[in-house]
Amino acid sequence: MTEPVLRMRSVRKTFGGSVVLRDVDLDVAPHTVTALIGASGSGKSTLLRCANLLEEIDDGAIWLDGAEITDPRTDADAVRRRIGIVFQAYNLFPHLTVLDNITLAPRRVHGVARKAAEEQARGLLERLGLGAKADEYPDRLSGGQQQRAAIVRALAVRPRLLLLDEITAALDPELVGEVLDVVRGLKGEGMTMVLATHEMSFAREVADQVCFLEGGVVLEHGSPEAVFGDPRQERTRRFLRRIVEAGRL
Ligand SMILES: Nc1ncnc2c1ncn2[C@@H]1O[C@H](COP(=O)(O)OP(=O)(O)OP(=O)(O)O)[C@@H](O)[C@H]1O
Ligand SMILES: [Mg+2]
Repeated sequence: MTEPVLRMRSVRKTFGGSVVLRDVDLDVAPHTVTALIGASGSGKSTLLRCANLLEEIDDGAIWLDGAEITDPRTDADAVRRRIGIVFQAYNLFPHLTVLDNITLAPRRVHGVARKAAEEQARGLLERLGLGAKADEYPDRLSGGQQQRAAIVRALAVRPRLLLLDEITAALDPELVGEVLDVVRGLKGEGMTMVLATHEMSFAREVADQVCFLEGGVVLEHGSPEAVFGDPRQERTRRFLRRIVEAGRL
């Protein structure tokens, strides 16, 4: 069996005494997409933040490419350089152009020369349909364009794993499609991704593995066909029924 890019075992996370992740196990195989679904507050963002060491876990362990990253001796910055993360609110630096936003980490953190960093950034922007926006400031871009620029920024450090947290949630419906297209493209290129999403039909289409979270527990995981088509848990059925009733599947 190929080694998972990301492996979580018995991960437990509490905030001020309340358990937010409970005994979470997760394996993410190379070049696959894992979708985290579940109600608001079920722990999806926390799971992603723990995987990226933005949150310290209380118990359990996490491995990246077979190396334990929750080992206290781990260099957390080095791990974060290998795991890209994009948040719901795109968080581009408003005082930097798109190009400078993207080249900041490669230049400052990875020591890439300006010229090389800019060439790579322009190539990525071109691919994501933002070639003309390199020298604009973020507030001159639409929400969808800003979100795509944020994805380019995460890709600029050539991450091993990309975590995407509700990257379409803040977008107008007509802009959602262009961002999802980018994710489809990255999947086609073999990028390993874990995404938290409320876009069920997208999760169904793009994911190799779907994990349904409830109350910090991965209640059910499997192929999209299994989880969406024939869920084993009554609570997964109930969640999906509500989604269908809301016209979102
Ligand atoms: N920094 C924090 N301090 C205290 N509690 C937190 C913190 N971050 C998250 N929580 C709590 O952890 C639980 C899980 O939150 P999380 O953001 O992971 O949910 P989610 O599944 O991403 O929800 P949503 O779909 O709304 O984004 C919630 O009850 C939340 O209030
Ligand atoms: Mg969230």
